[in-house]
Amino acid sequence: MRHWLILMVAAIGLVTANATIAWEMDADPERPIRGVDKIPEVVVDRTAQIEEHVQRIFNSPHAFTADERTPFSDEVCITCHGRGMETLFNIEKETPERLNEPCLSCHEEGARSHWKGSTHEFAGLACVNCHAMHNERPELLKADTQMEVCGSCHLDRRSDFGKPSHHPVPEGIMQCTDCHNPHGTPGLRKLVGHTINETCFNCHAEKRGPFLWEHNPARESCVTCHNPHGSIHRPLLNARAPTLCQQCHLGTHSDVGLSGAGMDFRVQGRSCLNCHSQIHGTNHPRGRVFRE
Ligand code: HEC
Ligand code: HEC
Ligand code: HEC
Ligand code: HEC
Ligand code: HEC
Ligand code: HEC
Ligand code: HEC
Ligand code: HEC
Ligand code: HEC
Repeated sequence: MRHWLILMVAAIGLVTANATIAWEMDADPERPIRGVDKIPEVVVDRTAQIEEHVQRIFNSPHAFTADERTPFSDEVCITCHGRGMETLFNIEKETPERLNEPCLSCHEEGARSHWKGSTHEFAGLACVNCHAMHNERPELLKADTQMEVCGSCHLDRRSDFGKPSHHPVPEGIMQCTDCHNPHGTPGLRKLVGHTINETCFNCHAEKRGPFLWEHNPARESCVTCHNPHGSIHRPLLNARAPTLCQQCHLGTHSDVGLSGAGMDFRVQGRSCLNCHSQIHGTNHPRGRVFRE
């Protein structure tokens, strides 16, 4: 059956003009390809059937033979598919462990070092839920954008990004991966920073402080007031002022409630933020109530 491998690779090699590979496989009889006789006919047929699709891998980083770490500088197709082309073939029928095994054998380091034990692993996701190997997209993603890849499962987040105030992910200015590492992190929620705030400070450094006058909730967690994905209240607020503020400051400026008759004259009809404009904290000597 060895001729089959040659045949298959040669067929692909011919069309892609990737003669090196066809030649290498053909001309090296010493190359150990044990178990090749187990290659089922169905694989041969399927490869022929979707040849164009299969071939796209030749334009991906995995086919870069000058890099000796790539599958194509190793044993080409069978590095991923196994000696009998049995692995990663019928992906709906395989367990996540089995699907991930070949990929992790080369990619477990670096960004994937927290894959094991991550919520995505725990939920039974596989690399192939987000990646497709026989394609030419950057980072071998399954779809053109992260909105599509991630949004296919995280429908709530996708709809957050459709709200009037949102981080510019749909516009392509930002990515989910500016804040999350989908392969897992040591911290919460796959965030790239150790904490929520550290993640935000990567880009909003001016909010880091330290401030002479700190506003406790901003110190603790930005998402107390902001939805990191999107909201109907600008700018990304969980609620509008005064409702937002009144969750914690009920009764301020008034002994009889914050709306209606009897309310402190200073507050009536005005936003808390008109006066308390430095809501994240301030270094102004007279900044105790975040007015300057
Ligand atoms: C980097 C790993 C990798 C390499 C190398 C690789 N494949 Fe694949 N292949 C996959 C994965 C993962 C799938 C599952 C579906 C997908 O991602 O497209 C797959 C799917 C397939 C399928 C089935 C597609 C379907 O939809 O039924 C065929 C046929 C196939 N590969 C042939 C080949 C051939 C021939 C080679 C060598 C030229 C090769 N593959 C090299 C990873 C690889
Ligand atoms: C034999 C080792 C090997 C195997 C097996 C392998 N890869 Fe790779 N992969 C590489 C190398 C080498 C690169 C290119 C260098 C780099 O980016 O680190 C790469 C690149 C990638 C990239 C980045 C592509 C880009 O555009 O930057 C992704 C994504 C990827 N591999 C996913 C996978 C997945 C998923 C699997 C399993 C289906 C897999 N790899 C199997 C070695 C391997
Ligand atoms: C939930 C979706 C998702 C899953 C599951 C996933 N990835 Fe990724 N992967 C991405 C996205 C998005 C990127 C591009 C952004 C980035 O670099 O983090 C990426 C990038 C990569 C890269 C190239 C950049 C780098 O970090 O080196 C490699 C290699 C890779 N993934 C391998 C894997 C392997 C191996 C698995 C399975 C253990 C896997 N991925 C599972 C979404 C995913
Ligand atoms: C195949 C479905 C699927 C895809 C695709 C997917 N996820 Fe997930 N994700 C899940 C499941 C299931 C969970 C665990 C249950 C939950 O929290 O909803 C999860 C959890 C998460 C969490 C919460 C983690 C935690 O530790 O609490 C984050 C963040 C996340 N995913 C980000 C992403 C990003 C970013 C992408 C795209 C790169 C992505 N996901 C793609 C299914 C998916
Ligand atoms: C600006 C940073 C940022 C971006 C961009 C971002 N996220 Fe998040 N995401 C967060 C933070 C912070 C949390 C934690 C929120 C919390 O704990 O209340 C989170 C939580 C999540 C969760 C877990 C939610 C839950 O309630 O359990 C999922 C799933 C998620 N994000 C998916 C995504 C997806 C998908 C994208 C891209 C379409 C994305 N995120 C883009 C910052 C971001
Ligand atoms: C990768 C960089 C990046 C990270 C990380 C990031 N942001 Fe942003 N943020 C942006 C960009 C870009 C904008 C859009 C600015 C604009 O439209 O002018 C923005 C806008 C905002 C806005 C709205 C500003 C406005 O005027 O409408 C808020 C609020 C905000 N971010 C909060 C957060 C929070 C909270 C976090 C952490 C969970 C966070 N950001 C993490 C880049 C980032
Ligand atoms: C107590 C509630 C609250 C907390 C906590 C909070 N913010 Fe805000 N943030 C606001 C309000 C209210 C506005 C709107 C201010 C305005 O309209 O003057 C705002 C506006 C912003 C803006 C856009 C305008 C600007 O000032 O640049 C960014 C960016 C921002 N916040 C980031 C953050 C980050 C990062 C954190 C965490 C360190 C954080 N916020 C924590 C209430 C909060
Ligand atoms: C999650 C709860 C929470 C939210 C929401 C919140 N705050 Fe605060 N705020 C606090 C806490 C806690 C303190 C510190 C109180 C203290 O030291 O007595 C504080 C302090 C203040 C102070 C200074 C009071 C003083 O005596 O030092 C002002 C002014 C203030 N907040 C205004 C606001 C405004 C305006 C909003 C809405 C944009 C808001 N806060 C939203 C919890 C909150
Ligand atoms: C017209 C300006 C103005 C508006 C509007 C305003 N405040 Fe104030 N606020 C002040 C001033 C001035 C002080 C400090 C003097 C004082 O103690 O009364 C203050 C003090 C506070 C304090 C500290 C209370 C204390 O006992 O020291 C809190 C909390 C506060 N405001 C919350 C709010 C909230 C919540 C809103 C919106 C519902 C709001 N403010 C609207 C001007 C304003």
